[in-house]
Amino acid sequence: MTTGTTGHPFGIDFGGSGIKGAPVDLATGEFAADRTRIATPPGGRPTEVADVVAELVEAGAAADAAVGVTVPGVVSHGTVRSAANIDRSWIGTDAVALFRERIGHDVVVVNDADAAGLAEVRYGSARDQAGLVVVTTLGTGIGSALVYDGVLVPSSELGHLEMHGKDAEKQAANSVRERKELSWKAWAEVLRDYYRMLERLLSPELFVVGGGVSKHAPKFLPLLELDTPIVPATLRNTAGIVGAAVLAAEASGTRTGPAGRSRSRAARS
Ligand code: BGC
Repeated sequence: MTTGTTGHPFGIDFGGSGIKGAPVDLATGEFAADRTRIATPPGGRPTEVADVVAELVEAGAAADAAVGVTVPGVVSHGTVRSAANIDRSWIGTDAVALFRERIGHDVVVVNDADAAGLAEVRYGSARDQAGLVVVTTLGTGIGSALVYDGVLVPSSELGHLEMHGKDAEKQAANSVRERKELSWKAWAEVLRDYYRMLERLLSPELFVVGGGVSKHAPKFLPLLELDTPIVPATLRNTAGIVGAAVLAAEASGTRTGPAGRSRSRAARS
């Protein structure tokens, strides 16, 4: 059972194709041991995902490790409230209770984009940015995190704002670019409308763009012509795990962050 790195919180990121976990060194925001990845069970239903979560914890977490798990939906007091891109049976699932029962101790459950956003502000491209940072993840859907002066304001769900009369993520997500085989220029035109809408609504200090496509940032970010600075995420595919581990550690009272920042209000969401 105690095969992991004692003292390090363990983060788990539940995605459409894989569920990944690693212990995280909070001093650096880096993995303290290799990441383990298990394919998401077909359908990705709660009990099957919980089995994988338990397997990852068993394989890689210290017995006393704080555990944080991301879910790609709204999470309110541990219960999942939306399921835009996951099985609908997640809606109403008390994920904290489900995972706790499987792994045998407390767990924090957090929206995937909220976890990634917090990680970017603590350790990545928005590190030490004051004021409002809006982190968006462009993937199958669009995830978002609002972080104000380092404090996460959870469940912003800006991917579901209405744009041109429709759900924004159905027009601007990276999956739409891939499915419609849009050129970078054509996709950037849709993204421009999206980020301008966010600018008008929120006047952030900085946008951070995450998701796998952020590695191609030079091909589309310069085409957006926004008033607000916009930068690619730097943690890339580690951000969800790192953010989940940070929140788990904070909920359990461990000092976190490079400068030992104080607790986040989202830690118990
Ligand atoms: C969900 C969000 C999630 C995002 C990225 C959206 O469809 O509503 O909760 O963060 O996809 O996975």
